[in-house]
Amino acid sequence: MTIGVLREGDHENRVCLLPEHIPSLTKKNISVIVEAGAGKSAYTDDVQYKEAGAKIRNRNQVLNEADVLLTLSVADDDRLPEGKVLISLLNPLSNKPLVKKLAGSGITSYSLDMIPRSTRAQAVDVLSSMATVAGYKAVLVAAARLPNFFPMFMSASGTIKPSRVLILGAGVAGLQALATARKLGAVVEVFDVRSAVKEEVLSLGGKFVEVEGAVDDASAGGYAVEQTEDYKRKQGELIQQRARQSNVVITTAQIPGKTAPVLIRKETVQAMKPGSVIIDLAAGTGGNCELTKKDETVVHQGVTIIGHSNFPSTMPVDASRMLGKNMLNFLELMVDAEGKLNLDVEDEIVQKTCITRNGDIVNERIREN
Ligand code: NAI
Repeated sequence: MTIGVLREGDHENRVCLLPEHIPSLTKKNISVIVEAGAGKSAYTDDVQYKEAGAKIRNRNQVLNEADVLLTLSVADDDRLPEGKVLISLLNPLSNKPLVKKLAGSGITSYSLDMIPRSTRAQAVDVLSSMATVAGYKAVLVAAARLPNFFPMFMSASGTIKPSRVLILGAGVAGLQALATARKLGAVVEVFDVRSAVKEEVLSLGGKFVEVEGAVDDASAGGYAVEQTEDYKRKQGELIQQRARQSNVVITTAQIPGKTAPVLIRKETVQAMKPGSVIIDLAAGTGGNCELTKKDETVVHQGVTIIGHSNFPSTMPVDASRMLGKNMLNFLELMVDAEGKLNLDVEDEIVQKTCITRNGDIVNERIREN
């Protein structure tokens, strides 16, 4: 079997496998071919891939020679040859045209953003590993932009109070942002609709702000569900009250497959201190702040709102390291002891991530969507 690693587009610095990931594949008699320059933006050159046991090919060769293709995203004009297996992040719940195209071209596709959030799936959970990177980087970007210190300072020039950070959404990104902000010495408050995360917030040194009456659905697999209008109103008032006192707000609230909930209205931004910073990690799905513009920085009445939708790409070395490990662990589920591909596995993770096969859309969630 041959695995092909494609070079990502101009706006993506990550790569699906680094040289350090190659030996564990070649040991199983799996050949790895890498598109020339695939690792360049992650500070890795073709020579390093070759030394690790991979072969370097041009894009067409990778597309034609590989049995399994690894790439982070598929462009509209990408022509994937029939019969290939594609492992990617297809965002299939929001990208039906691409799903139809893949089904039409006879590609067997797997989308790692459909991995269920179970303990067992953690080793392959690309969304969690990338959210970890984003939560960390969000805090650093906020700290660099903020005109204040994060930690408390006691010096001969007086005492400076620590910055206050408000985090909306205590999932993977939010908890990582909390841990990072605490390490930098900030005082951190956290909102979430899922009361299950309260203990984690407290154990990381954050204060959990509770709003009564949240719809908390345990059957949603660790994800949030839509809230009532009454809850949203109460939550909005409390968020405004807390945001007014904060120097930094990091928003991470999401409901899978839906537009991000708007938690910071324009009035809330206007009530914040000039110089404050909002990092809206949900910018890619519409944003948690009414004023967020995807991939832009907006300054409104002195408050900076950063809508960067791909922080992992700004840390391509470690993000690719985590991504590659997730990819290897995923491949492990569908490759037998002789290094041959076995697509008929009953494994829940493999089944839930399979989007198209034999010309059909086989994923129930996508079909019902
Ligand atoms: P997650 O699902 O683990 O966490 C989201 C949290 O928000 C959950 O704990 C959920 O209960 C909470 N939440 C949902 N609705 C809420 C509401 N109305 N009020 C308060 N809390 C609410 O998601 P994860 O993996 O942490 O990702 C967070 C966001 O970051 C997602 O939108 C994701 O797409 C985005 N992301 C952004 C990146 C970037 O570079 N900008 C990179 C990676 C992820």
